[in-house]
Amino acid sequence: MSFCYINGFYKNNIDAQISVEDRGFNFSDGVYEVMGFRNGKLLNFDKHMYRLCKSLINLQISKPFSNPNSYKIIIYHLLKLNDVNDGFLYLQITRGTAKRNHLFPSNIKPNIVIFTFSKGSLDKIKRGVNVGLTKDQRWMRCDIKSISLLANVLDKQKGHERGFFEVWQIRKNLITEGTTSNAFIVNKKSHIYTHPKNNFILGGVTRDCVVEIALKNGLKVIEKAFNINDIKNCNEAFLTSTTLGIVPVTKIDNIIINKKAIGLITKTLMKKLEDFLNKQIHE
Ligand code: PDD
Repeated sequence: MSFCYINGFYKNNIDAQISVEDRGFNFSDGVYEVMGFRNGKLLNFDKHMYRLCKSLINLQISKPFSNPNSYKIIIYHLLKLNDVNDGFLYLQITRGTAKRNHLFPSNIKPNIVIFTFSKGSLDKIKRGVNVGLTKDQRWMRCDIKSISLLANVLDKQKGHERGFFEVWQIRKNLITEGTTSNAFIVNKKSHIYTHPKNNFILGGVTRDCVVEIALKNGLKVIEKAFNINDIKNCNEAFLTSTTLGIVPVTKIDNIIINKKAIGLITKTLMKKLEDFLNKQIHE
């Protein structure tokens, strides 16, 4: 039996109810975060809260709580109820419940849902994955972590059906990001390239950690979009997300990367990210 938090109550997942007039349900009018926890400790909590607040402000959705510690108290109670120490949580805030109308009322109360989930083993994935390429057909505010994910869902599914683990999206000949992750390559000079944080990508929390870790370890990071030609000439490639950490990319479309071996920089960053996350357990 799994518990979730819904609008002030802890309920069995199957007993939790939301109105048919929830604006998330009707209009995808909401935002979300996916956060990891290890040894019962939330990872990168402040970074996730910062992005959540930014998403809410951008969409003019009211904050359910003014103090980020309220989320912490709720989440830690939920982990206890579910008797889980390692895993992930999904936190969704929608604008609220109102008579269906594209215009939203000003005094609407947001709906908030939090539930926990676990992931299967990542062992196979961590040995390298293949990535497809597709046209980026999303809107111009990919920086908002909106629950409106239809373009991502359809392209991930299409990629999956073609045998790809992930799909990197292309806007104006430049790789923006994956459907559920950020995209990186390492060139022949060992410079790490990833798309700059702007309205064309979701500024991933893991992306930020990796950039920070790479810089701290004396690696050069260039936050500039790369193209297919750069991919053809790169030494290494990898992708990042909260649920996957760093995953080596060994094939992009029909381009084999580093003879399908995990590159040294990718390997180093994978290890350093694990250390960075594990350190938070004891903070
Ligand atoms: N997805 N870009 C997109 C489009 C994403 O959906 C995600 C994460 C990321 C990586 O962000 P972060 O490092 O903060 O997880 C980048 C989550 C995990 C999801 O939707 O399940």
